[in-house]
Amino acid sequence: MKTRIIGTGSCLPKAVVTNDDLSKYMDTSDEWISSRTGIKKRHLAVEETTASMSIEAAKQAMENAGVTAAEIDLIILGTVSGDFVTPACACEVQAAIGADRAVAFDINAACSGFMFALNIANAYIQAGLYRTALILGAETLSKIVDWEDRSTCVLFGDGAGAAVVRADENYGLLSFDQGSDGTKGDVLACPGRANNNPLIKNYQKLSYVHMDGQEVYKFAVTTVPASLQKTIEAAGLTAAEIDYFALHQANIRIIQSVSKRLHVNEDKFPISLDHCGNISAASVPILLDEMNRNGLLKPGMKVALSGFGGGLTWASAVVEW
Ligand code: ACO
Repeated sequence: MKTRIIGTGSCLPKAVVTNDDLSKYMDTSDEWISSRTGIKKRHLAVEETTASMSIEAAKQAMENAGVTAAEIDLIILGTVSGDFVTPACACEVQAAIGADRAVAFDINAACSGFMFALNIANAYIQAGLYRTALILGAETLSKIVDWEDRSTCVLFGDGAGAAVVRADENYGLLSFDQGSDGTKGDVLACPGRANNNPLIKNYQKLSYVHMDGQEVYKFAVTTVPASLQKTIEAAGLTAAEIDYFALHQANIRIIQSVSKRLHVNEDKFPISLDHCGNISAASVPILLDEMNRNGLLKPGMKVALSGFGGGLTWASAVVEW
């Protein structure tokens, strides 16, 4: 029995902010952002919330999969920017779509969140506990980035992506690699709420994303190709046999470096970061949905997926579409 992705969906906020628009608010330029990252614009939430975007992406994925809410056993949502500490965003999705039978919970694996959700759903399905799962990555990063720090805020965007996965006799997940390195947590971090209990004298209010961009870059260009290589080999394939690589959309230079290290043409690496920016856990499912809706994916195709980011965390998979 395999775990197969049978439908995808996504939602981006209405407001589009170009690099030129950003240069009106801070000392930056389209030239600086585009040449270093490949990002041209991003969508930022105004009315939208992490839950509202997740719900829309979930509905689209269910429609695309031809699955009703009553059939969903499990909802797992990767996010670092949910609207509430509790309830989990996954529970908000459950209520909105009416998936009464489902078990719903969030996970925090930063930009690897969707990939970790895929592997957790796969484990439940392989164990025979559940048959159909809704997995999501959703972020409103614009509320946790520091808009006075031009070196980070220009990189990120908001949005949500979803997929329905189901036990399948023929096609599905072929292999998975997953890892974490907690010793490097500080290179990409966002502190939580400050403790302001009466015993605390000088609590810190800092609660924005901060990043050591060069360390993150080094981590990504070494760990991601190694993880992909391991996953592709475990699937009994070579990199040349993979039809598409759907990678976390952090930075075009990371993607180019991975393509070079794997000796695979860049054409096999579809891109959404040019119009979405980096949407952490949401970027892999949004990219997959774009590929799906653009007709790129045909049944039986081999697609390698990879997420990587804060934690540090990473995860790769090879799936048959
Ligand atoms: N506009 C204009 N100038 C800027 C901006 C900006 N938005 N941001 C920083 N600068 C300036 C800096 O002040 C600095 O100026 P100085 O030399 O006068 O001090 C100069 O540009 C270079 O700054 P660096 O931070 O060294 O820029 P770098 O060349 O390292 O590029 C970047 C930054 C693009 C983030 C790079 O480190 C990178 O590619 N990192 C990879 C990691 C990544 O993409 N992370 C995204 C999120 S993490 C994830 O999803 C896994």
